[in-house]
Amino acid sequence: MTVQPEVQDQYEAYPYPSRNPADEQKRLITGSPSNLAELNHYLFAGKRDFSKPFRALVAGGGTGDATIMLAQQLADASKDGKGQAGQVTYLDLSSASRAIVEARAKARGLNNITFLSGSLLDLPSLDLEPFDYIDCCGVLHHLTSPALGLKALTSVLKEDGGIGIMVYGQYGREGVYPMQDLLRSLGKECSSLAEKVKLTRRLLEKLPPTNSFNRNPFVIDHKASDAELVDLLLHSCDRAYTVPQVADLVASSGLELTAFVEPIRYKVETYVKDAKLLQHAHALPPIEQAAVAEKLASNMKLHVFYLSRRKDTVADLSQAEKAIPIFREMQPDVIAKSLQKTSALKSNLDGIPLNLPLPRLSSAIAKRCDGKNNLSDIFAELKELDARLEWDKFLQQFKEFYRVFNNLNHLLLRYDDN
Ligand SMILES: C[S@@+](CC[C@H](N)C(=O)[O-])C[C@H]1O[C@@H](n2cnc3c(N)ncnc32)[C@H](O)[C@@H]1O
Repeated sequence: MTVQPEVQDQYEAYPYPSRNPADEQKRLITGSPSNLAELNHYLFAGKRDFSKPFRALVAGGGTGDATIMLAQQLADASKDGKGQAGQVTYLDLSSASRAIVEARAKARGLNNITFLSGSLLDLPSLDLEPFDYIDCCGVLHHLTSPALGLKALTSVLKEDGGIGIMVYGQYGREGVYPMQDLLRSLGKECSSLAEKVKLTRRLLEKLPPTNSFNRNPFVIDHKASDAELVDLLLHSCDRAYTVPQVADLVASSGLELTAFVEPIRYKVETYVKDAKLLQHAHALPPIEQAAVAEKLASNMKLHVFYLSRRKDTVADLSQAEKAIPIFREMQPDVIAKSLQKTSALKSNLDGIPLNLPLPRLSSAIAKRCDGKNNLSDIFAELKELDARLEWDKFLQQFKEFYRVFNNLNHLLLRYDDN
């Protein structure tokens, strides 16, 4: 097995993230990448039918957030409700982490997960059937060669499959790497990782106010538990990426970067309203615009993005009548209510206040985005309420509404019966 012993030892001692299988009775943890509606939108133009066979791999699955989310969502989407259609393969170096995922799966009664122990670097020789989708969240940046890791993932990807990745973002992790260096020096005399954890906690209480880590309000992971603290500050192999570095990593694999999420973070106009500045920014190629946005914001501590061998895998409104808008992790009724008396959506992107203008019909549209209605259905219902409403006017308002919510990764599209 191709392993980095220090990395393996860390995740055996401190499975990440810390999870209690008993909590499965209370909630399903969902997130990006790999939410089923989201990966369908960004990788399969919204046209994937999850009641048909679908093979997902979670590479470096840790304590199982993506594995459990995917397995549960695939089970829910399968016709018999038992997950016979969609199958998930979990792979990780850490047997302690795997034991936690197995217990979480058992607590949910999921029977569509195959568990493998090993290194993702060995994927090319594991003789596995290729996958429709591969999740690799928070893992590549811990490999000696992330490019080799991505190549290994690509070797088991189906021709029309896609990959969802998360790697650390450089600017939002301001102060993390000096702290890691500092702790490497201070911890030289420590005989165990547990001792280093104690030393780190001691130091964190005594940091001067000028310390760059102390001044970074975005990085708070270490407060959750020892596992999070070790992952953030005591990792033996950890690097972060800028947008151009993500682009280089992707180029090395021969894949296309189909989308960053949330898209709004990667748009210059999110941070700058000045027309002249925007004119200069918009003259740049898209990836350079994203790089400018990242530098302007300086608050991105991670990058989530989707990869495919194909271009144009993102769902769009080119077949608007048939498009089914679906809220990601939001209740249509709740959103509709919150939009009743406002003409703008107020939000906050890690310190950047947002005030996004919304069209007049927003509340009425939101109420009907239940993941079943397509745009023709929604238009028909609204026309019942106002006979003067024309399709073109409705579509124009829907597009404005969609742009706001999709940019925030709250609203996605699906197409049925393809
Ligand atoms: C930061 S954790 C992320 C866990 C999970 N993907 C998540 O996002 O919650 C990194 C995980 O990658 C695993 N890992 C590191 N190198 C690996 C490798 N070469 N092959 C397989 N797993 C690896 C570690 O054991 C650990 O569980």
